[in-house]
Amino acid sequence: MSVRSVILGSGSALPKRVVRNAEMATMVDTTDEWIVERTGIRQRYIAGEGETTSTLATEAARAALDAAGVDAKSIDLIVLATATPDQTFPATATIVQDKLGCNGGIAFDIAAVCSGFLYAMATADSMLRTGMARRALVIGAETFSRILDWEDRTTCVLFGDGAGAIVLEAQDVDDTDPMAPGLIATRLHADGAHNEMLYVDGGVSSTGTVGKVRMRGREVFRHAVTNLASVLSEVLEAAGRTSADIDWVVPHQANYRILDATARKLDLPADKVIVTVDRHANTSAASVPLAFDTAVKDGRIKKGDLVMFEAMGGGFTWGACLARV
Ligand code: UT7
Repeated sequence: MSVRSVILGSGSALPKRVVRNAEMATMVDTTDEWIVERTGIRQRYIAGEGETTSTLATEAARAALDAAGVDAKSIDLIVLATATPDQTFPATATIVQDKLGCNGGIAFDIAAVCSGFLYAMATADSMLRTGMARRALVIGAETFSRILDWEDRTTCVLFGDGAGAIVLEAQDVDDTDPMAPGLIATRLHADGAHNEMLYVDGGVSSTGTVGKVRMRGREVFRHAVTNLASVLSEVLEAAGRTSADIDWVVPHQANYRILDATARKLDLPADKVIVTVDRHANTSAASVPLAFDTAVKDGRIKKGDLVMFEAMGGGFTWGACLARV
């Protein structure tokens, strides 16, 4: 027997306003054809007045608690991944904690940009397995639209806003049983040499401003495919599984071509890859839990499935996690 973090339920939230590619073409020199062909994106959700990272995160967290059938008061850990917090401090996780009414436990934010949810899941998993907490909310939430340069067509068409959440619980499981639920293996990486390829050109301590997203897309693309294929193999090896064992891959949704190229490298059929980039665009830390919840709610991902989560983003940071849901 060993302690594992088991996923009890998931939830997600999106802003009210949908912005289709045709509308983007009225703002910058772009076309629906270019965006669809190069990225697979057809639309994104953009936060309006009154919608912030914490409001989206709280809505997603409530939905995850409902799906898990547990009371908010039973949550003793909130780990929230975001690059777009409501305030520089305190952590957005503490705002969510107060809105949910589960004050008193542990609550903090994680900054690993698009890999944030993987980093948050791994952190919560470690804390649950060492007994620091019993039941956690792991949230990825972003209002990336607020750090976009709406005159830069090379970035503004790519991103969107949203939030996703899961409830994780520490459970004693028989880990000799291949069907035992929970997070089985996780690997995280970072390489700080690539800051200038994907970054925000402002910050509290450097410019005293919030800044805007800057990206050298082609270079990021190349690194993403290589790093993701490598970390997926690492996790499979750590778990003693092969890609043939995987029921579903839930990848970070940056670009359909990255999802496709990564799946090919691992001989994974395209129909095992959950794709929501067409609807949500790149929602950074929110993209993995949003995609997971979408596939749980539409009935594709079922209890007992073996699911691989993976993401890569600014830093660079990247990681993957294999879980029996
Ligand atoms: O979430 C974190 C990880 N982020 C990513 O994984 C993003 C990775 N990168 C990508 O997804 C792709 O590199 C992009 C979608 C950003 C760009 O696609 P690409 O096929 O690499 O295009 P490119 O950057 O090589 O640009 C090709 C052309 C350029 O024109 P020239 O120089 O060939 O004349 C761009 O100026 O497309 C032009 N272009 C656009 N045209 C119409 C760039 N953005 C646009 C646009 N509309 N929105």
